[in-house]
Order: sequence, then C-alpha cells, then structure tokens
Amino acid sequence: MPEITYDAQTAAAYRTAREIPLDGLTAWREAIAETVPLRAGMTVLDVGAGTGSFATAFRTWFGVRVLAVEPAAAMRAVIPADDAIEVLDGRADALPVPDASADAAWLGSVVHHLPDLAAAARELRRALKPGAPVLIRNAFPGRYDRDLRVRYFPETASGIDAYPSIDEVTAAFTAAGFGRTRTLRSLPHEAAPTLTAFAERLDRDTDSKLRALPDHAYARGLAHLRRAAADHPDEPAVSWMDLLVLA
Ligand SMILES: C[S@@+](CC[C@H](N)C(=O)[O-])C[C@H]1O[C@@H](n2cnc3c(N)ncnc32)[C@H](O)[C@@H]1O
Repeated sequence: MPEITYDAQTAAAYRTAREIPLDGLTAWREAIAETVPLRAGMTVLDVGAGTGSFATAFRTWFGVRVLAVEPAAAMRAVIPADDAIEVLDGRADALPVPDASADAAWLGSVVHHLPDLAAAARELRRALKPGAPVLIRNAFPGRYDRDLRVRYFPETASGIDAYPSIDEVTAAFTAAGFGRTRTLRSLPHEAAPTLTAFAERLDRDTDSKLRALPDHAYARGLAHLRRAAADHPDEPAVSWMDLLVLA
C-alpha cells in the first residue's frame, strides 16, 4: 500500500477528515483511565502524534504533560503546542528524549507505519520508565468487523490484513522487555454525529487504505455510505478500533 506523504495540504485535510472530536472519544477516555493511572505531573510520549489531536486529548483528560513526537514537519506545524504539549521532531525508532523519561507512550494509528517495529519497541522501552506502559490504538488484521471504513468500503479490509497483527506487535514489545498484555479491548468512537456528516468529511487522500482502492470501488463505497445516510438520517457515525496496552 503506498505511504501517504504528509505535506501541508495533507496535514490540513487530515485535521478536517480524520481528527475525532473529543466528545466522540468518551469510551476511549474511560478505558484508558481504567487501565493506566495517568495524572498531573506525569509525562506521556505521543509517538507519531500527527496533527496532535490525541496530545490535546491526553492533556485535557488527564492533565499530563505530552511530548508529541512526529517525523513529518507539516504535521508538527499544526500540533497545538502549549505549556503542556511539547512538539518534537523524531521517529519511533529514534525518540528525542532521555532514557526513562516518560510514564506512558501512546501510538495512535501508527504501528502499521513503522518500518522496524522491533527497533521501535526497544526504543520505547528505553524512553519509558521501568514498568511504564505503551498504549496502542490501531486497526488489526481480522478485527475490523465494526470499522466504519470496512463497512462501506469492504475492499479496505485487505489493507488492514497487511498490518502487523496483535500477536506480532505483542511479540515485538515482549522481546523488547515489555512484560504482559494489560488490556486488549475493542472500543467505539463517534467519528461524526451523522453518517451524512461522516460522508461529507471523508477525504480519500488522508487515508492510505481508501487511497489504495480502485476508483470504481471508492465510488461504490461512497454511494453505499450516502444511501445508508439517507435511510438512517439520525444514525451517528460510530466506528471501532482496538486498544492494546502492554507494560
Ligand atoms: C495515521 S497518522 C496518525 C496520527 C495520530 N497519531 C492520530 O491518531 O491522529 C500516522 C502518523 O505516523 C507518523 N509516522 C510515520 N512513520 C513514523 C515513524 N517511523 N515514527 C513515528 N511516527 C511515524 C506519520 O507522519 C503520521 O503523522
């Protein structure tokens, strides 16, 4: 699947098309709070922070300091840095932070972008304090039945099937010194208040799986989505993804 080039245009489009409003992430906030006791004074490493929506979420939800590490300059440029969010140029396998400097790491839709997962896991082990967890939010092979993109664009499933599996990710992190799976849960988020709003926000160029579709498959999926939106005008656009926490 061709990688997306995150230039200024894509970064702006990503914010419109892919960022999830905080209100739509309630189940995620609750699940993270249940699994990891984050509180003010702690530092969270947001690896592959993108446009910084989860950096903002962690700061807002838990009052933590966030180190937002992102290799694409255009994405870094739109991260809302402030007293609590520090934006850093770096990659998962070369984190610009000292040893044992963070209380948790967050990887949101990033593991399938990493060219060397084992190296990234080792680097995260170095950057995290002993026993500190890594929280991974991702689509995983075979676990996408409730993914909204797969529902309307079923051909995107083969893209997800090429991602690292739960077992592969767990093995890479275990080999790097992470001990055990603290949680594996599928969680909902509300991508938009209605399917119509979701269809209007959709931007093929911000999603490598949608971009990889032939034009006719994309057009068919969009028509399917628009029909569903017309048939169910009040249905919120709810999609599901996995939270995998290793510590
Ligand atoms: C799909 S976006 C996810 C952004 C954000 N975490 C979110 O959930 O909205 C993937 C991000 O991973 C970044 N990325 C790609 N390769 C990376 C690497 N080797 N290390 C860290 N981040 C990387 C990309 O630049 C991009 O911003």
